[in-house]
Amino acid sequence: MARDSYRDLAAYYDLMASDPGIQALYREWRGLLLAAIRKRGLRPRVLVDLACGTGNSTIPWTRRRGWTVVGVDRSAAMLRAARRKSRAVRWVRQDLTALRLGERADLVTCHFDALNHVLRDADLQRVFDGVGRLLREGGLFQFDLNTAHWLRRLSASQRLFRLGPHAFTAYNAFDPRTGVALLRQLWFVKRGRHYRKLEVAVRERAYDRAAVRRMLRQSGLRLVTVRAQRALGAAPIRDYFLAVRLPARPAR
Ligand SMILES: C[S@@+](CC[C@H](N)C(=O)[O-])C[C@H]1O[C@@H](n2cnc3c(N)ncnc32)[C@H](O)[C@@H]1O
Repeated sequence: MARDSYRDLAAYYDLMASDPGIQALYREWRGLLLAAIRKRGLRPRVLVDLACGTGNSTIPWTRRRGWTVVGVDRSAAMLRAARRKSRAVRWVRQDLTALRLGERADLVTCHFDALNHVLRDADLQRVFDGVGRLLREGGLFQFDLNTAHWLRRLSASQRLFRLGPHAFTAYNAFDPRTGVALLRQLWFVKRGRHYRKLEVAVRERAYDRAAVRRMLRQSGLRLVTVRAQRALGAAPIRDYFLAVRLPARPAR
């Protein structure tokens, strides 16, 4: 498995995710998925949350009676934090690009720019293939992606953020040739009277909507909604996607 860039961040992730702007995103994704379930008259029983992290987008679904909820992530540290928060989810340590889950799902989610972490077309196609195998016909796949505009914009800013007793500064770089941003954070974690230095680096790649639509289709998934979920002026910075699993092609 690849190096875990979330290993050191796991302890502070939920502090970051408690930001009202981020909590609003989690609420929106839940509301949009519930609306899509209602609109299509689905009766879901199994939800799989991919790249679930500490479970912020996974755990709320355990309140639905009779649902099986599965959270998948490759980071042992993020999953440890998730497990401490809920035992009602089946937490699975697995890489998105090589999904092997026993069950079929009615709903698959993948939130908070997790798919931007997949850096190569071939790997994103593997993720979509895995989702295509996992979903039952008519099942839904909901995800979001940071746009190139946002990744470029992030690389222009250097700010100091305060989080409780801790602070961090972000210094990012976007390569327009590859569409990959290197997002680096330098944390000062308060320990008693001292601060411990912590460096975190995550790479994110931007994908354009047309490419995502094409790749989904190749995995038996049809894009039914794509729109800006957040924008700066007229430019989308976070795109929202909803796809549906098509019937399997009859074997010849
Ligand atoms: C920004 S966090 C999002 C976590 C969670 N979905 C949320 O909304 O809070 C990205 C997560 O993706 C996971 N991740 C990135 N690449 C992955 C891969 N190839 N396979 C499995 N998990 C991956 C990381 O370990 C991390 O937990």
